Amino acid sequence: MKKSELQTPAILVDLDILEYNIKRYQDLCKKHNKQLWPMVKTHKSIEIVKMQQKAGATGFLCGTLDECEGICQAGIKNIMYAYPVASEASIQRVIALCKKCNFFIRLDNLDSAKLLNTAAESQGIKINYTVIINCGLNRFGVQPERVVDFANSLKQFKSLMFKGISTHPGHVYAASKHEDIPKYVEDEKGAIKTAVNALTAAGFTLELITSGATPTFFGSISDKNINIFHPGNYVFNDAIQMSTGIAKESECALSIYTTIISHPLPDRFICDAGAKCLGLDQGAHGNASLKGFGHVKKHPEITVSSLSEEVGILHINGSTSLKVGDKIEIIPNHACSSANLTSNLIGCRGENIEKIIAVDMRGNSTVKVK
Ligand SMILES: Cc1ncc(COP(=O)(O)O)c(C=O)c1O
Repeated sequence: MKKSELQTPAILVDLDILEYNIKRYQDLCKKHNKQLWPMVKTHKSIEIVKMQQKAGATGFLCGTLDECEGICQAGIKNIMYAYPVASEASIQRVIALCKKCNFFIRLDNLDSAKLLNTAAESQGIKINYTVIINCGLNRFGVQPERVVDFANSLKQFKSLMFKGISTHPGHVYAASKHEDIPKYVEDEKGAIKTAVNALTAAGFTLELITSGATPTFFGSISDKNINIFHPGNYVFNDAIQMSTGIAKESECALSIYTTIISHPLPDRFICDAGAKCLGLDQGAHGNASLKGFGHVKKHPEITVSSLSEEVGILHINGSTSLKVGDKIEIIPNHACSSANLTSNLIGCRGENIEKIIAVDMRGNSTVKVK
């Protein structure tokens, strides 16, 4: 089947670019003797996990327990969950995961640790954890200067096993130009260094020193402390990555294929893809260099100026060769959100449709009603 025969809107993944991105980040890890444990939440797809594993990924970081269970069932051994848990249902899922794979949870508070410890003790199992360090995102985590106190206070929980530290420099998404990125790399490396030095001096052994985000990857890959990297968005890239020069148009694998269905004003088209494909993200932390709701491939004269649920308004800046009936491809601002808006990614190679990639670990995909 050819791309031009597809119904629109369709969420496409260019397989050549996907494979290139997976290999590029993996090769850099190999070169620097680092492990790549990609963040799964970007694609939520077992098929893409398998591609990453085949390329050399030795573990995975998950944003949901659905993802942890999905990849565990698919045979992945090293699985880290990015956040603490606090509900009974989640604790029981963590316990079950610990019995099936080499599972790691991340902790940053004593209450969650206590709940997990009680559950682990009653089941006679041990739970591996890393301590979350705040490197500037100001979401989860203990300040690097306080990590020894926190790690010491966790020693009371005999069923929890300290394995190291983790951080995520997600505040890098406030950067609006390439020259801003090194500052966030320094935050990431600096927080890790402070925590590693303090913990080592206090007698802790750190097996896992983990961090990562796509925009800081190239700057922090040579860091001597971090041994596991967790980029996620890199498999697809998107207009947010383009806005800071982390990716070029030709390195963005995911796009929304859409038909121009109306031309209501001289400077306006309407296309049949809206917020339900493109998402309304304009950068997690307010990225001033993003214009509109996506990047129209090969047509710099078109801006995606606003979105309804099922249609998008395109602004024509000057003149264009496009007309009603033409199809265009829009790189979404945030590819992770777009992937989460479909059950099927359409894998194409050039103009040929090669396969359907199931997005099979979306929220509640594993829920069972007893
Ligand atoms: C904890 C954590 N680690 C890693 C990542 C991957 O970051 P990116 O998608 O920028 O590569 C994310 C993404 O949100 C995250 O929340």
